[in-house]
Amino acid sequence: MSGDPGVTAGDIARLAGVGRATVSNWRRRHGDFPRPVGGTATSPLFSLSDIEGWLHRNGKPFEVSVADRLWQRLRASGDDFQLADLVGWAGLHLLELRGDPVKLPWPGIEPDDSGLPGLLADLAAEHGHAAAFGLLVERYVQAHSRRLVVTRPDVARLMTRLACREGDVVLDPACGLGTLLLATPGARLALGQDGNAAAARITAIRLLMAGTPAEVVPGDSLRGDGFPGEVADAVVCNPPFGDRAWGHEDLAGDPRWEHGLPPRGEPELAWVQHCLAHVRPGGRAAVLMPSAVASRRPGRRVRGNLLRAGALRAVVTLAPGGPDLWLLRRPEPGERSPAGVLLLDADGDFARAELEWDRYPDGEFCVPVIDLLDDEVDVSPSRHRPRLHRRRRCRRGSRASTGSRTAPTPARSRSRTSPRSRPRRWRTRSRPPTRRARTSASPSPGTRPRCGWRPSWPASRACRPTWRHVSFRAPRCPSTSSCTTRCATRCAADSGTP
Ligand SMILES: C[S@@+](CC[C@H](N)C(=O)[O-])C[C@H]1O[C@@H](n2cnc3c(N)ncnc32)[C@H](O)[C@@H]1O
Repeated sequence: MSGDPGVTAGDIARLAGVGRATVSNWRRRHGDFPRPVGGTATSPLFSLSDIEGWLHRNGKPFEVSVADRLWQRLRASGDDFQLADLVGWAGLHLLELRGDPVKLPWPGIEPDDSGLPGLLADLAAEHGHAAAFGLLVERYVQAHSRRLVVTRPDVARLMTRLACREGDVVLDPACGLGTLLLATPGARLALGQDGNAAAARITAIRLLMAGTPAEVVPGDSLRGDGFPGEVADAVVCNPPFGDRAWGHEDLAGDPRWEHGLPPRGEPELAWVQHCLAHVRPGGRAAVLMPSAVASRRPGRRVRGNLLRAGALRAVVTLAPGGPDLWLLRRPEPGERSPAGVLLLDADGDFARAELEWDRYPDGEFCVPVIDLLDDEVDVSPSRHRPRLHRRRRCRRGSRASTGSRTAPTPARSRSRTSPRSRPRRWRTRSRPPTRRARTSASPSPGTRPRCGWRPSWPASRACRPTWRHVSFRAPRCPSTSSCTTRCATRCAADSGTP
C-alpha cells in the first residue's frame, strides 16, 4: 500500500471546504490540475498528495486533518463493500489501544496499510478513543448515505424519551449502527441485534466505548431471534420497511404472533409483535412504522387485536408523509385495557408529541378504542382529527330552532354535570353533507339556523374557527363567511331540516 489514497471530487470539495461545482471548475479551467489516477470517467479518483500539492501551489487553503487522512487511507485499503468491516477493524484497534480487553470477533479483513495503526493512535491522542471512533463512523455514514438508513438523532431522542427510563434494560432488534441504543439515557444493559454483522460490530464497539454494558448479536431477528425468551424493560426499533421476504411461511406458527399471524405483505406488523414479545409486563415499546401500516386492509385484524389487548397506546405521525411512531405497552396480568388511544399528527412538532403522550389517556387527541374497531381498524392520525366541538354544538342549537323544548345549556357546564351528555369529540370518518343538506344550506339570513353559537375567528385563524357561547336566544352568525355556510350545512344535516 502506497499510503497515498485516492480521493474523489466530493472528498476534495469537503477537504478544501468548497462546493462540488468549484472542484469541477478547477478541473476545467486549470490545465495543471492533477490527472485522475483511477476510478471511472464519472467518478474519477485523484492522488491525495497530488491534490495537496496543487492546492498549495495555487494558494488555496487546504489542511488535511488526521481524521481525514486516516479516513482516506482506511477507505483506500479495501473496496467500498468492505468499508463497514474496515471501520469495525479500526474500532477494535482503538479499543485495544485504550487497553480494553476485546471480546468481539475481528472482521475477516486486515487492511494492508501499515501506517493505519499509527494514524489511529494519533487520532485517539487528539480526540480520545470514543470520539476518534465517532469521527470514523460519521465519515462512514456520509460515504454511504444512499445505502444506509440511520435513524435521525432527534427521532432517536424522542423515541427513547417516550419509551425508556434510567436504569432500564433496553433492546433494539434492528440496531443498525446503534443510534437508538446510544440515545438511551443510563441504560442498565443494552441489547442489540442486526442482520448486518458489520453494523452489529460497530454498534457493539460504540456501546463499549460509551461505557454502556451491552450484548449485541449479529443475525436475522425474525428468523433467528438472538434473545429468545428474554424480556426487556423497553424495546426501541426502527425496523426495515417493506421487506417482503421476512419469512411469512417459515414463521407461520411462531409464538410471537400473539395478536395474529402477520400477513405476508405486512412485515412491519411482524416487527411490532417481535418487539412486544420482548417487553416485560408493564414495559414499553417504541417502533417506527411506515404510515400505510396504520390503515392497510390486510393488517386490520392484527391492529384490532393490538387495540383490544390494550397493547397499542399511540400512533404519532412524526412528519407529513410519515413515518409514524407506534407506542406500545405489554399490559400487566389483569390490567384493564385503556379506553382510548392517542392518535396525533405531530407535523414535526416533537415537543407536542411528548406533551400529548404525558397527557395520555386524557387530551383531545385521544380516540375511543371502540370507535376504531370497525371494518378497517384505521389508526392513521390524519383520519381522526379533533372536531373542535362544532358539530355537536351546532346540533344543540338546531334542536332548539326546530322546536325542542329543552333549552340547551352551554357545553362546558353541561359536560360537568352529566358526563353521558358530553359531546363526542371525535370523528372517525369525515362525512360529506348529504345532497339534501347541501341544497338546503343557504347563507341568506332567512334560512340560516339559529345555532346559539357564533364563530369567532381572528383573521390569522380563518381556517380553524373556535366557537364560544354567546346567547342561545339571540344567535348571531356572520352571513358572508364560508365557515357559516359549513355550519349551516351541518346544522341542516343534523336536524334534518329540509
Ligand atoms: C432502519 S435501519 C436501523 C437503523 C438504526 N436504528 C440506526 O440508526 O443505525 C434497519 C436495520 O435493520 C437491519 N435488518 C434488516 N432486516 C433485519 C432482520 N431480519 N433482522 C435483523 N436486522 C435486520 C438492517 O441491517 C438495518 O441495519
